[in-house]
Amino acid sequence: MAEVVIVPTPADAGALVADEIVRLVQSRPDAVLGLATGSTPLPVYEALRPRLDGIDVSRVRGFALDEYVGIDPQHPESYRSVITREVVEPLGLDPRLIHTPNGALETIAHAGEDYEAAIAEAGGVDLQILGIGTSGHIGFNEPGSSFASRTRVKTLIEQTRVDNARFFDSIDDVPMHCITQGLGTILRARHLFLLAFGEAKAEAIAGAVEGPVTASLPGSAIQLHEHVTVVVDEAAASRLRHADYYRYTYAHKPAWQGL
Ligand code: GLP
Repeated sequence: MAEVVIVPTPADAGALVADEIVRLVQSRPDAVLGLATGSTPLPVYEALRPRLDGIDVSRVRGFALDEYVGIDPQHPESYRSVITREVVEPLGLDPRLIHTPNGALETIAHAGEDYEAAIAEAGGVDLQILGIGTSGHIGFNEPGSSFASRTRVKTLIEQTRVDNARFFDSIDDVPMHCITQGLGTILRARHLFLLAFGEAKAEAIAGAVEGPVTASLPGSAIQLHEHVTVVVDEAAASRLRHADYYRYTYAHKPAWQGL
């Protein structure tokens, strides 16, 4: 099962994941990172900044999980812009090595296949950062997404558009469609880090970690993966039935084991 680490604050979670990314980049300078958008991964990117000082990141590669369909890539809320602003620029990564799915309408029919080919050509994702939506979605795989799905176009559910309306002038400006790595794509990454903070995520986390494995809660796909680290604060952990066991396990983790 997933290893669940309960930390006091999002900053502690950021430090934990950032340390792991640094270890990865030091051992593999052309590591392939799976990047996520949303507010959840921000503490990771913030913690990475000072830690990467003096480390050569010129060969680090990256693949974002998803993008809106039909949005101008220059739009400040396109995931291309968000990844550029929050990850590529502050961390000094080479933008040519950091990919987002192409949401342009002209090429959308084969954009999913193209993205899968690019990930395969890079040798797959080494470490995938994931947030989770209140609907239990990871990437933009809304409830009902196949566990075998690859990068493709999906329709956002209304709740996700409501959740993401804060980034736009109004809910009407939130695109209706997205292109997202599939659950099958995400499950092929070698190490998954699922992060969540706050009470609003408690139910989705409990479902993903301890609930039945079901397409109705896409985050539960993590139970099918052999190497998953779930990093949550106390509020996001508040509905986990076995929280005490997770705390006990982590407190007694053998030093040699690593995450
Ligand atoms: C969006 C993204 C997801 C992200 C989710 C949660 O829907 N496509 O990758 O996990 O939002 O966002 P936040 O981390 O801001 O709660």
